Amino acid sequence: MTEIKILASRFPDEFLFGVATAAYQIEGAAKVDGRKPSIWDAFSHMPGRVFGGHSGDVACDHYNRLDEDLDLIKEMGVEAYRFSIAWPRIIPEGTGRINEKGLDFYDRLVDGCKARGIKTYATLYHWDLPLALMGDGGWTARSTAYAFQRYAKVVMARLGDRLDAVATFNEPWCSVWLSHLYGEHAPGERNMEAALAAMHYTNLAHGLGVEAIRHVTPNVPVGLVLNAHAVIPATQGVEDKAAARRAFDFHNGAFFGPVFKGEYPASLLDALGERMPKAEEGDLAIISQKLDWWGLNYYTPMRVSDNATEGAEFPATKPAPFVGKTVTDIGWEVYPAALTELVEDLYQYYDLPDCYITENGACDNTEIVDGEIDDQMRLDYYGAHLSATADLVEKGYPLKGYFAWSLMDNFEWAQGYRMRFGLVHVDYETQRRTIKKSGKWYRALALEFSRSR
Ligand code: NOJ
Repeated sequence: MTEIKILASRFPDEFLFGVATAAYQIEGAAKVDGRKPSIWDAFSHMPGRVFGGHSGDVACDHYNRLDEDLDLIKEMGVEAYRFSIAWPRIIPEGTGRINEKGLDFYDRLVDGCKARGIKTYATLYHWDLPLALMGDGGWTARSTAYAFQRYAKVVMARLGDRLDAVATFNEPWCSVWLSHLYGEHAPGERNMEAALAAMHYTNLAHGLGVEAIRHVTPNVPVGLVLNAHAVIPATQGVEDKAAARRAFDFHNGAFFGPVFKGEYPASLLDALGERMPKAEEGDLAIISQKLDWWGLNYYTPMRVSDNATEGAEFPATKPAPFVGKTVTDIGWEVYPAALTELVEDLYQYYDLPDCYITENGACDNTEIVDGEIDDQMRLDYYGAHLSATADLVEKGYPLKGYFAWSLMDNFEWAQGYRMRFGLVHVDYETQRRTIKKSGKWYRALALEFSRSR
């Protein structure tokens, strides 16, 4: 308890503690009230793409348990909820017809938060692209960026008056590189040209989204959520250090560069410029409009070594091992110092606005025993990373809040339901929710924080 008191006392009064989720990972009700399939519905139903053939068809059945889940958020003692809006519920075919019933659901969600005194942090795109847009090429088509702009307008016109903040995209790194180059996420492509097109049109969609949001709701703070990579060279040798620099440009610079500097990194342009889609005049100005905030999703560092062999694709690196270090149940290294260094580096390279840690958390698959979940590893992970966050606040970085990933166990994309990130356990047979040991700890921290200021 004293530890919680000390930790809580390290955050300024206006700091915000929250929990985060995303639509496809929790909602279920995939065919209800006019929702049409997204690329993730299609992908998860393709054999071999998702562990165990799992899908988000039912997930946490959140769509049908909205009030119960909002009560749970309230019970967690937090002051903010970060959720995402499913484009295929709002404009089921991506363009054209608007589905009022989809908007009604999020209306109830934001009203439910407001009624409980919980701040609303909405994300417009958390990877569930309407499947119909694949007919035009999905994110490899420029037209998708304009479809996103319209969707942003529609959402803000209906919900904007009750949103405390909005983000255009969640982790474009995943919806671009992981989805179009590494093939692990929907739509499962492995093609550099496709990936580069997706990169530019996602960045453009972000910029067009910002324009739309500012036009419809000029007072809602608008941001972008990025999973910046803390790149660590395997050795201090020149080759590995140069490799780490290239990896930084590719994994971070491809998004931070255009958004916060108005340019793609020179190394990326040198190596891949010929293969990039043609940026039209004015694109980079649209993409680099000043943001009110940005969100950092951080879990683990990226260790790389040089792989500049004949024919190696840019950035010509390979993963370096982290033997002997603590890992979570998904195999990700636990290294809180990388969070501190990453934020310091990013503020040095880019002109960044206020920041929220929009996601941080651990996969800990500890099961329920006699009604209790003793997930000490997750609890320790939160303790260490919140302490790193407090260090950054004390050093003067403009960190305004922290959202734990996640409120509850959910559909962990290609890993299905086997990987659990929740503060609250979900029994997928019964949909019973049980607060874990880490959840009780986080609640105690959030309550202590609001009590003591
Ligand atoms: C980041 C993503 O935004 C979220 O959807 C995912 O579940 C977590 N990382 C954990 O992998």
